[in-house]
Amino acid sequence: MTQISSNNQISIIIPTYNESQNILKVIESILKIQLQKLSIQTIVVDDNSPDGTGKILEDYLNTMKQVAGHTIEILHRKAKSGLSSAVLYGIEYAKGHTIVVMDSDLSHPPHLIPKMIEAMNKSKCDIVVASRYLKEGKIIGWPLKRKIISKTATKIAKAGLRVSIEDPMSGFFAFKRYILEGLKLDAIGYKMLLEILVKKTNVTVKEIPYTFTERQFGESKMGLYTILNYCTAVWKLYRYGRNIRTQEKRKSIHFFSKAARFFTVGASGLGVNYLISFLFATSMVDLWYLHANIVGIVFSMTTNFLLNKTWTFGDRNFSTKRTLLQYGKFIGFSSLGALVQLGMVYHLVENSNWIYPTALIIAVLTAGFGNFILNKKWTFGEKIWN
Ligand code: GDD
Ligand code: MN
Repeated sequence: MTQISSNNQISIIIPTYNESQNILKVIESILKIQLQKLSIQTIVVDDNSPDGTGKILEDYLNTMKQVAGHTIEILHRKAKSGLSSAVLYGIEYAKGHTIVVMDSDLSHPPHLIPKMIEAMNKSKCDIVVASRYLKEGKIIGWPLKRKIISKTATKIAKAGLRVSIEDPMSGFFAFKRYILEGLKLDAIGYKMLLEILVKKTNVTVKEIPYTFTERQFGESKMGLYTILNYCTAVWKLYRYGRNIRTQEKRKSIHFFSKAARFFTVGASGLGVNYLISFLFATSMVDLWYLHANIVGIVFSMTTNFLLNKTWTFGDRNFSTKRTLLQYGKFIGFSSLGALVQLGMVYHLVENSNWIYPTALIIAVLTAGFGNFILNKKWTFGEKIWN
């Protein structure tokens, strides 16, 4: 068979544990799929199933005829180590740019895969989830108890972890491989998709409905242990999400506390301005009062600059070039701020009929805030929201 580059290949990952009566049926059903311009690499990850699943598939692969557009491989692990970890193990080996994850017990119909890939291409999304809980989706053959467990787990995920799709616990999904870059997954239990959805907030997801049919052969491996695992996982993911949110909070706290310092410095500047302008006009120095006022302005701008540099923005680098450049920008922005303030007061009083005191407050706050943003970004080289 010709080697096809990974650019037009998809990889289907199928974890198996004691699926001797199912595995060949799934494989045969997959072999019927043909995808336009795409070849399919199927990877079965078997955990040394005591019922001989691995051996059965090996024998089948040794005697089967090649099917165009398909390769099938089996990876063996020594012992049962969990569904998610088996899937991740398979993904490491996978060559496709798109990964499909599915069960091996025929609960997930392979003929849905072309539709999933089509949906992914059409809506250009990163993840396509085959969903039991969309309107047209269904579950056949589950006892009430299992339905309740699944619904509860789904509700917890949606409410507690702010996951907004209908079936975040689905074990049948396709995704672009690149979304795993830089992602650290715990790989515990059954909730791989959920973990991706919580940790990757910037991905686009599409759900398509399907009918889940409970297995005819073999047993579900979902038990109390899986449920306990799920609870731990949700708790961990909840803390993960909260940490991210507090980091965001911290950013806003930084932003506003710096803004508060900037305004405090501005207010202190008024005092310095007044004091210096007054002192320089008294008999001690005896400047003409307008000259004294200029000294006051320059002096207060300088103290404002130094206080903002060291206190507001915590910049202790006083190399001459850097400091002079910052000083120049600071004076520039302050002058701009003064012009904005003047313009605003004029406009508010003349055109909008505001009373002068209110207009002044609004103008001072606006100019001050604008100044803060400009200096934060351009004078002290910080990100605005930080
Ligand atoms: N290699 C390996 N190792 N495979 C495993 C292991 C393991 O430890 N545990 C389970 N599997 C395989 C099974 O052989 C099967 O192919 C698939 O994982 C799903 O296991 P089931 O035991 O059939 O799961 P289920 O049908 O109860 O659960 C289904 O619904 C869940 C949500 O309600 C699955 O689709 C889950 O993926 C899904 O989260
Ligand atoms: Mn199953």
